Amino acid sequence: MKQDKLISTKQFPRLAYTVRGEGSVLVLLHGFPLDRTIWNDVAEHLAGSFKVITPDMPGAGLSTFSSEDLTIDDMAASVNAILKEEDVDKAVIAGHSMGGYVAVAYAEQYPDCIAGLGMIHSSAQADSIEKKEQRQKSINIFEKGGGSHFVKQMLPNLFSEENSVNDYVSKVVERALLTSGKSLSAFYKAMMNRTERISILRNNSLPVLWVLGNNDKVLPVKDLTQQTSLANVNFVYNYQNCGHMSMIEAPSSLVEDMALFVRYCNS
Ligand code: MLT
Repeated sequence: MKQDKLISTKQFPRLAYTVRGEGSVLVLLHGFPLDRTIWNDVAEHLAGSFKVITPDMPGAGLSTFSSEDLTIDDMAASVNAILKEEDVDKAVIAGHSMGGYVAVAYAEQYPDCIAGLGMIHSSAQADSIEKKEQRQKSINIFEKGGGSHFVKQMLPNLFSEENSVNDYVSKVVERALLTSGKSLSAFYKAMMNRTERISILRNNSLPVLWVLGNNDKVLPVKDLTQQTSLANVNFVYNYQNCGHMSMIEAPSSLVEDMALFVRYCNS
């Protein structure tokens, strides 16, 4: 059964999310500049075994924010509001890229409510100085109305070269173009201001799932490898012929590996 839901909180005028299946809870957080629909295929499969919750981050899809001064911690608070509404005490929280930045912030803010952390093409590092400068240039572009052009240029680069010409890339672009310029700016500001959270991984008994793509140009394997051994329990997968988008490029492997991880976290 699939249910689309909407809630409103003091902090967030509207939070939209989808709930599928029953059992141990797995939350899947989307990346930039996407929304919860990016998980549709993977969530449908995992819902055969688990209760899968896919939120739209505030400012993405049907969710809204009241202030453009959005932070990664605010996004983690939006996940907490949804889990409270659903009466969920503990869940595996997995995030794709920006969603992973939110997932690791969630682990810091709500340590008693997380059973496992999934970092899907993501990192616990903060932005480098160069990355912050790059983001500021992009924010200037968004503020001048250049968001659509940026999204059309950026999206194909998220995929491995051999996958970047497939039909689904244009579908993902179409969906991403629904994200407003204000949201693009707010997300970039949130990401460039995020703090480093390596200490959340180090010597922590919280199990961590790492999914890397050997052709990921956004977060290359070499930049992530060191983090993948910091926690006490790490499930590490490096997908071949995969860029930054395993939920589209390698959905069967991702479903299988996530299912194994969620079962371990609840065993
Ligand atoms: C994402 O996929 O969420 C973004 O590319 C992450 C980022 O820009 O750091």
